[in-house]
Amino acid sequence: MINSQPEQTLLREPCRLLITGGAGFIGSNFVHHWCNNYKRDRVVVLDALTYAGNRQNLASLENRENFRFVKGNICDRAFIDSLLQEENIDTVAHFAAESHVDRSILGPDAFIQTNVVGTFTLLESFRHYWMSRGQPQSDRFLHVSTDEVYGSLAPDDPPFTETTPYAPNSPYSASKAGSDHLARAYYHTYGLPTIITNCSNNYGSYHFPEKLIPLMCINILLGKPLPVYGDGQNVRDWLYVGDHCRALDVVINQGKPGETYNIGGNNEVKNLDLVELLCQLMDELAPHLPVQPSTKLITFVKDRPGHDRRYAIDASKIKRELGWTPQETLLSGLRQTIAWYLNNRDWWQPLLSEEYQAYYQKVYGIEAIK
Ligand code: NAD
Ligand code: TYD
Repeated sequence: MINSQPEQTLLREPCRLLITGGAGFIGSNFVHHWCNNYKRDRVVVLDALTYAGNRQNLASLENRENFRFVKGNICDRAFIDSLLQEENIDTVAHFAAESHVDRSILGPDAFIQTNVVGTFTLLESFRHYWMSRGQPQSDRFLHVSTDEVYGSLAPDDPPFTETTPYAPNSPYSASKAGSDHLARAYYHTYGLPTIITNCSNNYGSYHFPEKLIPLMCINILLGKPLPVYGDGQNVRDWLYVGDHCRALDVVINQGKPGETYNIGGNNEVKNLDLVELLCQLMDELAPHLPVQPSTKLITFVKDRPGHDRRYAIDASKIKRELGWTPQETLLSGLRQTIAWYLNNRDWWQPLLSEEYQAYYQKVYGIEAIK
């Protein structure tokens, strides 16, 4: 089976990698993955440090010779042009995005700006720079996307494949769909070596508290209500973030330009079942919880508008062609994630800021967590 190999065994030239959104959740996990596995590569992180970006996530890498953090916006064409040239980049891993569905419902503007205009700006800048260097075929532009672009599945529908028609239902997924189409078009029109990945819901370390799993863990620790949307029967397919990073590694190193790869965890779970499982694990792993059993905190709240019922990914293409499969089960991944949140209170406590509480009030209409 082919798999992601450390550089000693995988005969590859060092690359010069630009990682956008590398201070966010998946981006920072990916930066750590790459720096641990490919020590000779130059890694440049570009991030605007929005509410979701946190330079602390990369603190342990800041003094490395082959690492650079640059604060900047992917919509700034002149800035991207000069950064690509200055750093002689040959590989782009593009994570930067507005990523939360509930925020896209409250205010779609930033989603169109960053996800559509920003991705276009990055593609256009990289295309000109790539052409000026004689169009090297070994260059890569990895566009990291989501399964949400495929829309919602009925209970008995087969999982999404790479040929499932796009049917996005939220401003977030619509903006990601737009960016996917641009990445695809740049391959077909200009030959730019783009690759698209569409992944299911991730969880793990450095996950901002607004998303389901960290929100539930933190609210359990604080003894606050656990807000479950609607009837709690919506299904998501959960993947541990470390497995996603390994998948992106094989896609960059072995994937074929112009292709799309679906990435998923084979872990379809109903939201309510997941929250109950988290309660059970937290009761077991967290000492001195304010409310026990934690299931007492479960509170059904008004449903999210346009809430997609079910996502499920068929990840057989990436398994067949690139040899990737997830290593973590849902239970092993959740245990690691909970341990991380228990040991890193200093990381998440400051994120429960006034801005976060104002957001929380708007979405849930109930007392903000403190
Ligand atoms: P995140 O919100 O945690 O991080 C996004 C990062 O992008 C932040 O560091 C932010 O500061 C940065 N950013 C935002 N706008 C920017 C701009 N204009 N210029 C530069 N940087 C900017 O998101 P995430 O969950 O890590 O997701 C990363 C990518 O993976 C996104 O493209 C998302 O669509 C995709 N994805 C996420 C999931 C998931 O479950 N979280 C699943 C599949 C795909
Ligand atoms: P989320 O983590 O926001 O990811 P996405 O919407 O991109 O799938 O939500 C995962 C699921 O959990 C989704 O069906 C919405 C639901 N959910 C709740 O029930 N309560 C919450 O407070 C949140 C944030 C999400």
